[in-house]
Amino acid sequence: MSNRHLDPSGVKVAIFGLGFVGLPLALSYAMRGCSVTGVDVDSHLVGQLNNGITHHLEKYHDTPIQKILEDELRSGRFRATTDSGEALANCNYFIMTVGIPVVNNQHDFSHVESCSRTIASGLKKGDLVLVRSTLVPGMTRNFVKPILEESGVRAGEDFYLAYSSERIAEGKAFDEFENMPTLVSGLNEASREKARQLMSIVTKAELHLASSIEAVESAKVMENISRDVNIAMVNEFARFCEAIGIDIFEVIKLANTHKRVKLLIPGPGVGGYCIPNALHYLTPKADELGVPLKLLRTARKINEDVPAFVVSMVTKNLPVAPKDAKVAVLGLAMKDYSSDDRLSPALEVIKLLEMSGIEVAAFDPAVPTEHGFKVNSLDDAVRDAHAILVLAKQNGIGYSNYRLFKSLMSRDGTPVIIDTKNLYDRAEVEEHGFIFDSI
Ligand SMILES: NC(=O)c1ccc[n+]([C@@H]2O[C@H](COP(=O)([O-])OP(=O)(O)OC[C@H]3O[C@@H](n4cnc5c(N)ncnc54)[C@H](O)[C@@H]3O)[C@@H](O)[C@H]2O)c1
Repeated sequence: MSNRHLDPSGVKVAIFGLGFVGLPLALSYAMRGCSVTGVDVDSHLVGQLNNGITHHLEKYHDTPIQKILEDELRSGRFRATTDSGEALANCNYFIMTVGIPVVNNQHDFSHVESCSRTIASGLKKGDLVLVRSTLVPGMTRNFVKPILEESGVRAGEDFYLAYSSERIAEGKAFDEFENMPTLVSGLNEASREKARQLMSIVTKAELHLASSIEAVESAKVMENISRDVNIAMVNEFARFCEAIGIDIFEVIKLANTHKRVKLLIPGPGVGGYCIPNALHYLTPKADELGVPLKLLRTARKINEDVPAFVVSMVTKNLPVAPKDAKVAVLGLAMKDYSSDDRLSPALEVIKLLEMSGIEVAAFDPAVPTEHGFKVNSLDDAVRDAHAILVLAKQNGIGYSNYRLFKSLMSRDGTPVIIDTKNLYDRAEVEEHGFIFDSI
């Protein structure tokens, strides 16, 4: 393996897709001295970024992403654009970070397709295309590559083509780009080496070289599915513990004292872009190959059913009929301390609550998405509510402001607090005069 390192000041990289992955990745390259053009089709997003605005909650050490963005815009090392032509003409390194949304079990491949087509339109001899999107195994070779080659250039000969799965967790992006061991693969050895060099600019952790693109595409999807399955398992354990009358969180703590056991924690469901979609990224190829994936499909179903279980906890404890009830939902994000509510179980829980006639007022100061049920303060959420339902932890929510709750909540029956995040101490909540239930 060559030890050649690239001098970042000579590297011109275009990142396609400026979302939760693409933006911090682009800034990570800029911070290290590369000249970075961020390309996105969303002109509103591009405008915001060029004005130094982002809702992401990332930070590098103690520096928030907003400050990093401002610094890199000022230094001239980062700029966002919708003009892919300019980026393609000026850069030699292209990183794809666009996603494959799955809606009602239908994959939307159009982003990967259009992004590949855009890159194809300006590919030059010696360029590197590094795909970092999570794909259905086989897609880099069978879907992306043919589009890139449409203009007559050959991958592996005229340009380099590589794949490296993205492993960051939102909220830890800068740290994990730098310190998470990462897998690298290429269409041929030269492509893989070129990608390794580009990635070494940002990643200090080990870059594991894989023998094929398909191995890395599959490893990525399986990493995420393994978390889905493990969460489904503890969600089943939680139901058992509830039935037998013991505390699941204590049981997990006890079980995890075993050196080879690492149980995850149950919650209101599984959200975010990665884990709920992961199985959908494996099934098209598995179906084609005739591999049934029985356990994995069952696990997904178990996790999909958790929001309905949460709703049954709410309705069971309400002091009034659902049609007369108001529930204050605290935390909408797909996981704690995140601004991302994509595929958040909270949205599913709220949909089901509303379907049963319950009025919902949800408060989450970190999530920027507009929703009809969202309110702008804790007061507005809890005012006249019969129950408080905690679905995500967030800074800036007074989860234990019992005095406020008591003064504003409905006086029709005993007010209820339902905890899906292991945030409260039951005795304390009950001492304050609430009915308490938890996952
Ligand atoms: N979010 C995570 O924590 C995470 C972690 C690991 C891997 N991934 C994977 O990384 C990829 C990106 O995820 P994300 O969360 O950043 O998604 P995102 O939706 O936040 O960002 C994708 C961006 O791509 C843009 N886009 C769509 N089509 C485009 C095109 N043709 N050209 C340029 N831009 C285009 C969109 O406007 C959007 O801003 C996905 O494949 C995802 O599975 C995400």
